[in-house]
Amino acid sequence: MTLHRPRSVRDAEVAGRTVLVRVDFNVPLEDGRVADDTRIRGAAPTITLLRKAGAKRVVLCSHLGRPNGVDASLSLQRVAETASATLGVEVAFDDPTAALSLRENVRFDARETSNSARFAKELAAGCDLFVNDAFGAAHRAHASTEAITHELPSYAGLLLTRELDELGGLLTAPRRPFVAIVGGAKVDDKIGVLQSLAQRADTLLIGGKMAGELRERTDLDGVDARVHLPSDVVAAAAFEPDADTVTCAWDAVPDGWLGLDIGPTSSSRFAEVIHEAGTVFWNGPMGVFEWDAFAAGTRAVAQAVAACSGHTVVGGGDSVHAIEELGLASRVNWVSTGGGASLELLEGRDLPGVVAIPPG
Ligand code: 3PG
Repeated sequence: MTLHRPRSVRDAEVAGRTVLVRVDFNVPLEDGRVADDTRIRGAAPTITLLRKAGAKRVVLCSHLGRPNGVDASLSLQRVAETASATLGVEVAFDDPTAALSLRENVRFDARETSNSARFAKELAAGCDLFVNDAFGAAHRAHASTEAITHELPSYAGLLLTRELDELGGLLTAPRRPFVAIVGGAKVDDKIGVLQSLAQRADTLLIGGKMAGELRERTDLDGVDARVHLPSDVVAAAAFEPDADTVTCAWDAVPDGWLGLDIGPTSSSRFAEVIHEAGTVFWNGPMGVFEWDAFAAGTRAVAQAVAACSGHTVVGGGDSVHAIEELGLASRVNWVSTGGGASLELLEGRDLPGVVAIPPG
């Protein structure tokens, strides 16, 4: 399979130009503060490159949350302050005269999500070039990701390019054996990516609530030998952090009890498979890892991925959160900044924000 390779910002003439950069600063907020600046750090190389290459102005734009009209709690003002601290350079807020500025949340205008050409023209006003570095939003055909490319010469930022290399590489040329680990709650949310990975990976390890659902389904027929479901589970009497628990075979869960983690036999088996991998992709926790009693399976997988000598890629919100909480993020080769975008890419789907940029 061939993937669209958009031209890189490295090939753009930026000296003396005003550059509009779409970033994904859709960061988690807690009490109005930025709880995790990973996505801001992810955009730093592109911003630094543009400044060093002599861009006259760098105008950043992003969405934050899913507002319905203007919503002060989703203003990017606080994010601009955090970005100044993270990047070590002043990021002005919504100031078109500043050398580096972050515009207000593009989703305050409903024309953003309707991919309005008129809104794209307004975003492009005063700018000479467009750089898309928002991998996390590349699966959206919105004004600041798609329509904008019809207004300005467009390039891919360094983060976007690296994400496409890392995740695209899993589809095109993974070092074998390629082990994919998928967890989480709902099969339906991930069936497309499961089917794609089942065709490409040598082994597919499944955990989380979806493992139970998957036993009932036939969507993955024909590739069963490669799909490993947990043989044992940690079951709980109720969906509560301190519920009574029992570790048992998957088909011996007492009536009315719930499997909330993979069991120790499955954890060891999964860790052995991961140990031998040439390439690993991990998306989704093995259980309710936010609760101590059901965190062991996810912890075991995170540790095995971190210890694996093959090429390791973690994608998707919860598994990224788990690997970061365990302090293991620096021991994997790539932690994707995309949730839905990384899954759509791995399904083999075209991302509208990527295919809109001319090839390199
Ligand atoms: C994400 O967090 O996955 C991206 O920023 C996309 O956000 P959205 O699902 O609201 O478009």
